[in-house]
Amino acid sequence: MIPFTRLSAGLAFVRACRVDQLIAERGVAVLLGDRQVAVFLVPETGPDGSGRPHVYAVDHHDPFSGANVIARGIVGSRGEATTVASPVYKQVFDLATGECLTEEGRLDTWPVRVRDGEVFLGVDPVRAGPVTSVTFPRAGVLAG
Ligand code: FES
Repeated sequence: MIPFTRLSAGLAFVRACRVDQLIAERGVAVLLGDRQVAVFLVPETGPDGSGRPHVYAVDHHDPFSGANVIARGIVGSRGEATTVASPVYKQVFDLATGECLTEEGRLDTWPVRVRDGEVFLGVDPVRAGPVTSVTFPRAGVLAG
């Protein structure tokens, strides 16, 4: 079990993976308790205007198809928004807000912090379980 790490007041953060394990614009599926979370590293300027790579975390579960596929989606942009398109029916979601830009619907989002090269996901410490596995596009499964 990976212990919670307090990185800011009021939120608990759990370590998901290292930044250098992420491949730009290729989603990674993280099992966080009973939730599957899709984590994306996007090299362009993020919504914070920092100009640095930005890491996003949204539902891996696609509400339109009911399948766990969002980490396999295609990263792009629409206006100012950085987006991911579901690989099933191609709905386009804003990665920062989870909002579906093509029809009514949304993905849940998780706060992300990057510290010392590690990616942490913000969770409700009461409801969420620990990260139990991380599935990389090519590297298989990390347990821990
Ligand atoms: S998303 Fe899994 S086969 Fe297309």
